[in-house]
Amino acid sequence: MVLKKEKGSAERILVDERLQHIAFIMDGNGRWAQKRGMPRKYGHSVGAQTFRRIAGYCREIGIHYMTVYAFSTENWKRPPEEVRAIMGILEDYIQKFSEMTEKESIHIRFIGNLSVFSKDLQEKMENLDRETASNPFHLNIAINYGGREEIVHACKALICEGKTDIGEADIAAHLYTAGCPDPDLVVRTGGDTRTSNFLLWQSAYAEYHFTSVLWPDLSESDVDAAVAAFYSRHRRFGGV
Ligand code: FPP
Repeated sequence: MVLKKEKGSAERILVDERLQHIAFIMDGNGRWAQKRGMPRKYGHSVGAQTFRRIAGYCREIGIHYMTVYAFSTENWKRPPEEVRAIMGILEDYIQKFSEMTEKESIHIRFIGNLSVFSKDLQEKMENLDRETASNPFHLNIAINYGGREEIVHACKALICEGKTDIGEADIAAHLYTAGCPDPDLVVRTGGDTRTSNFLLWQSAYAEYHFTSVLWPDLSESDVDAAVAAFYSRHRRFGGV
């Protein structure tokens, strides 16, 4: 990590090649809204704005890959109104992204079991991924995503290909994140200290950072704190 002083502005953090991929478990939207006497869905819509702001900031500080947990395979158990609200935000985002300026620099990829979504939405997600593929900042949005489901999906794909001798690289190549480096840092907001079925395979050697800040409140300086915590750790990857 380096601290960079830019003309007329305060010193700020820039990451180096040790921190290429940051992942976020965006927790706390519901509580954030309820604290304000608002319906939980309001927290998700403010959370979506936070997502755009934080993605922009991560790009600015030199991160190349960012993954967010937007909707898990377990989130369907929520009240139908809340599920509809989150899906509405995602669809809106997919629709609007083509017109956004970020389109020039962000590669959007949706990870998860997308087969449950309408053909039309699947097509839009695929198009967005394809049209933005050459952009330098890679943003993975996990929807209908579960880490266990992803591993089962990879194994089934290998069986279908007739593979009998399976190694780690084969599994990694069939995950939804294939081609993307593993996360170096996973940040969970909202105060809980669980992985909640997020990037189970990919996070084998990730550093975790937990903060009680609720996702809609996450600020650029909270990201700096997570980055600083990452650089304070000694990553041994199983060595000494
Ligand atoms: C967890 O907070 C949050 C979710 C399950 C949904 C996250 C979705 C968004 C922020 C919208 C994302 C949009 C885009 C475009 C990526 P929670 O509801 O579990 O909060 P709680 O713990 O306070 O109940």
